[in-house]
Amino acid sequence: MCGIVGYIGKHKASSILLEGLKRLEYRGYDSAGLAVLQEGRIDLVKKVGRVENLIRESAKHSFPGHVGICHTRWATHGGVTDANAHPHLSSDGKIVLVHNGVIENYTSMKKFLLSKDYSFKSETDTEVLGNLIAYHYAKEAVSDKTNRFFESVRKALLHVEGTYGIAVMCVDQPEQLVAARKGSPLLLGMGDEEFILASDASALVSRTRNVVYLKDNELVQLTPTDFSISTIDQAEVSPVVDKITWSIKDAELNGYAHFMEKEIFEQPASLENAMRGRFSEDGSTAQFGGLNLTAADLRMIDRYVFCSCGTAWHACLVAEHLIERFARLPVEVDYASEFRYRNAPLDRDVLFFVVSQSGETIDTLAALREAKRKGYKVMAICNVVGSTIARESDGGVYQHAGPEIGVASTKAFTSQLMLVAMYALYVARMRDMSFNDGLSYVQGLKQAPDLVRKILEQAPHIKEIASRYSQYSDFLFLGRLSLFPIALEGALKLKEISYIHAEGYPAAEMKHGPIALVNELCPSVFFVPKGEIFNKIVSSMQEIKARKGKIIAIVTEGCELPPDLADDIIRIPDCHEAVLPILGCIPVQLLSYYIAVKRGCDVDKPRNLAKSVTVE
Ligand code: AGP
Repeated sequence: MCGIVGYIGKHKASSILLEGLKRLEYRGYDSAGLAVLQEGRIDLVKKVGRVENLIRESAKHSFPGHVGICHTRWATHGGVTDANAHPHLSSDGKIVLVHNGVIENYTSMKKFLLSKDYSFKSETDTEVLGNLIAYHYAKEAVSDKTNRFFESVRKALLHVEGTYGIAVMCVDQPEQLVAARKGSPLLLGMGDEEFILASDASALVSRTRNVVYLKDNELVQLTPTDFSISTIDQAEVSPVVDKITWSIKDAELNGYAHFMEKEIFEQPASLENAMRGRFSEDGSTAQFGGLNLTAADLRMIDRYVFCSCGTAWHACLVAEHLIERFARLPVEVDYASEFRYRNAPLDRDVLFFVVSQSGETIDTLAALREAKRKGYKVMAICNVVGSTIARESDGGVYQHAGPEIGVASTKAFTSQLMLVAMYALYVARMRDMSFNDGLSYVQGLKQAPDLVRKILEQAPHIKEIASRYSQYSDFLFLGRLSLFPIALEGALKLKEISYIHAEGYPAAEMKHGPIALVNELCPSVFFVPKGEIFNKIVSSMQEIKARKGKIIAIVTEGCELPPDLADDIIRIPDCHEAVLPILGCIPVQLLSYYIAVKRGCDVDKPRNLAKSVTVE
């Protein structure tokens, strides 16, 4: 949520900043702004709307400076106005900053600053922090002259309750940039005689792959040629330089109309990447290098708790189904935001899992911290390498799905489904699953990428169906067992990107309430896999049909539905049970995508949403 970029180096800052900001736009797109430092003045432009508006506005100015900061906003405090857009300038004109996060105690700070004659142009918490830094900067004039600007930032932050990733400039210090983080991600990229700060790697990977992931309570002080990192308590930090493993090409459209479309079609590859190197030599089980738990440790686990948010929460529900089904161990799934506050009673031998594409979702992070505080080991399934959740967990598995830019998660979700299926196998093989069953499970997983390709070949058919359903205002998504979470996911995808009201429900539960919604204007998407519940689902479909509801059926190849029961049919290949949720997901991703495109929606940047939700 919110994206920030900072630059200091030998090049003109503005074009580098705006290029980086464009790549961070998926983090929030209510407004955008840019500030560049130049010979004792701050050139500042901010505009409501997309980064494109800012780029157009910036073209009217020359911005010659080599030090600058910029921001794309997802509004928290204050409406979507030019005045509330970042960067924010202190009322004495000395300090300018961009901020990602929430300053919780900004009201009391503001009161104090008003009493000291600082004034405010916006309703934001960020402007308050800017003025607090300016206040300390003015005070530092009397004491520490050498490190005055840096110290004023540090001292102001000592008073902050809440979260921040900030980049700050001072009009008197044209050769300095200061940044800090607590709870909101910030990376330092080390380029060729230049440094780039960014909320995530996509903004800087075109200039460097060498990065330092700043940790909470760390500040970095930058000049065009040097940097130093220290904690808010003034302890020196030795930086660890990591290498980003993907390239800028991975974060580009490469001929696709939208990132969501590209990411849907990347799924065969992202599933391969999730599996690579993660099967045992005898081919009968999975293996994970990063769990930091021995087989003996895992034998002691009697119960699992999975926590996360949104789409990742649906992956947890699939984990529940697969671990209980194959490993015969109980699994509890909780919304991270609920777990954190409900003080859940937990057994002793519980292993805790969090799942997060971004690795920065604040609710998931808070759940992780709560579980650790209670003394539990926490494993993470994450896509973004070096993310806070990845770093703070006791162990885990990286998804290696590559950057996911579309706000609606697609390839990251199916890669999570693959990993939880592999984990279920891993634990099942330690318990009652036989060698032969393990072999066929592994074979089943390995077929997943090809089976997904087969479904993707049906994209034109699904597009045609979508064009006939794009004008409906309500949908039901109905599935059972491991496809119930996929029904939830189908409904979420449609809601997110097309703004159509949709509900996911267990197919049989539908008659206990949602059936009241059904008429010729409320279509249902049914998951109808081969197996013991096939006939039960057909009965549920009959109940919908009897009430004139239209039906789109996602059916296993070779299974025959009664004639005229479904209005439209999408076939998915027969597969191993553990792969079924992955296959079931592809048609609903495509259906939502094509419906949203047909409705003229901004698929990659749906209204009110942001990719990584770093506020509670
Ligand atoms: C998915 O389409 C959503 N945009 C959203 O629900 C997302 O899955 C959720 O915010 C969790 O994100 P995370 O995986 O990065 O933690």
